[in-house]
Amino acid sequence: MPENTRLPIFERWAARYDQSVRTDQGIFASYDEVLDAVVHAAAVAPGMRVLELGIGTGNLAQRFVTLGCEVWGTDFSPAMLAIVREKVPQVTLIQMDLTADWPEALQQRFDRIVANFVLHEFDLATKISLLQRLATHHLMAQGLIVVGDVAFATAELRQQSGAETWDEDEFYWAADETMTACAGSGLEIAFQPISWCTGVFVVRLSSPLQMPTADVATGLQGPPPTVPQPIRPGG
Ligand SMILES: C[S@@+](CC[C@H](N)C(=O)[O-])C[C@H]1O[C@@H](n2cnc3c(N)ncnc32)[C@H](O)[C@@H]1O
Repeated sequence: MPENTRLPIFERWAARYDQSVRTDQGIFASYDEVLDAVVHAAAVAPGMRVLELGIGTGNLAQRFVTLGCEVWGTDFSPAMLAIVREKVPQVTLIQMDLTADWPEALQQRFDRIVANFVLHEFDLATKISLLQRLATHHLMAQGLIVVGDVAFATAELRQQSGAETWDEDEFYWAADETMTACAGSGLEIAFQPISWCTGVFVVRLSSPLQMPTADVATGLQGPPPTVPQPIRPGG
């Protein structure tokens, strides 16, 4: 398989990635809040097995390790993985391209699957098919997939923000179009906006057998979620 053309971008970025997320006033202005929201929505208990897709330099993984989870991390960038190896040696790391065949080591199920600021690499159809595959083949019963990313409550808000012109190779989420596209897919999705351009999705398999009566941590309970309005800067 030819090398993913996006890989060199992340290889070059790895050494200064942590500096970027601390100083960037654009999409990373709410970086720590998004990480906190992902951890909160994941509602983990010590000993849970967490798989992170696109682990980057390990900032989210570090939080799950601190909470006593067994964390597995994947990324296609050796430079990113080298940083995690130093920073969070407790994580089991696997170098792989999310769009390629998954290795044997990942043919197993996890309590939680998380992905932060990575799934915007893929268009909506690819995102949904990945989520379906994760939910069906890699998630424990009652498990959750939690996704933090550049995301808007509606496609209209995304369009108004100008985000569609930020980077022609990136595909930012809109919660309304995602939920519409997921209708009938077997996935149940809830969205929590974090800032005007970021938010967190909680995804689970929609099966009556798996529906909790109440889930305070994720805000998911009873009927399918409605789409809340985003929090705007200063608003
Ligand atoms: C913006 S960084 C986010 C890193 C980390 N999740 C965080 O929140 O700080 C995106 C990460 O996803 C990885 N990535 C992007 N596309 C990928 C793909 N197709 N397969 C595997 N990893 C990918 C990049 O190498 C990079 O580490």
